[in-house]
Amino acid sequence: MPKITFSKIKDKEKKVAEVPQGINLREAMIKHGVEVYSPLHKKLNCNGKGLCGSCRVHVKEGMENCSAPGALEKLRALGSFYAIGHEEEVRLSCQMTVQGDIKIEETPDFNLHGVDRKAKNTRAGYFPEGEAR
Ligand code: FES
Repeated sequence: MPKITFSKIKDKEKKVAEVPQGINLREAMIKHGVEVYSPLHKKLNCNGKGLCGSCRVHVKEGMENCSAPGALEKLRALGSFYAIGHEEEVRLSCQMTVQGDIKIEETPDFNLHGVDRKAKNTRAGYFPEGEAR
């Protein structure tokens, strides 16, 4: 059975779940009590139809173990702010199935400027070593 490792960066909380191969990721998240939506989108979402983009996750490891994105998912990502800078890792959880072990970050924030969120509140985070002003 594939293992999904969920990680919430904000809370530094990790959870691992074993799931049946081929399960829809959104369904797996709901079944295991993992937040699918940000607070704003808990009521405002398309309920898994691939239209709203609010169920997005970042696949940090194991993209090869995810089903390939379909036409609807590719179309939804085109011109969407949520995909900017994360083209290689962003997926809609309602539109993908799990075929093997993966690690995901759920409810990711927008990160349009590419700033390292772990370090963004420190001066060093904005000005990496050697670039301090
Ligand atoms: S729930 Fe709306 S796109 Fe997945």
